[in-house]
Amino acid sequence: MNDWLDVGSLSDIPQRGARTVTRPGAPDIAVFRTADDRIFALVDRCPHKAGPLSQGIVHGHSVSCPLHNWNIALASGEAQGVDKGCTPTIAVKVESGRILLAIPAELAAAA
Ligand code: FES
Repeated sequence: MNDWLDVGSLSDIPQRGARTVTRPGAPDIAVFRTADDRIFALVDRCPHKAGPLSQGIVHGHSVSCPLHNWNIALASGEAQGVDKGCTPTIAVKVESGRILLAIPAELAAAA
């Protein structure tokens, strides 16, 4: 497993908002903050047709994809309702107001 990567301050993300973590040679990661100040991280790619989930609308602990409105659970990355598919999740924690990600090896940037 990897070290925790500091990707910024919790206060940089508005409630019901998201930020994107970009790394050369690796998939973008969307970091979401919910209205109740939970933080979640997903690969920024909808399981339907790769829509940018970071640009979707956060409601509860889900995000609606901006392209075709699938609802994706932030905790599991699973499409909800009748839709099927899953986007990878990334472990995240907040310490002293900083957001830390544990990016799995398969999502790490190419060396
Ligand atoms: S690409 Fe996300 S719902 Fe179609």
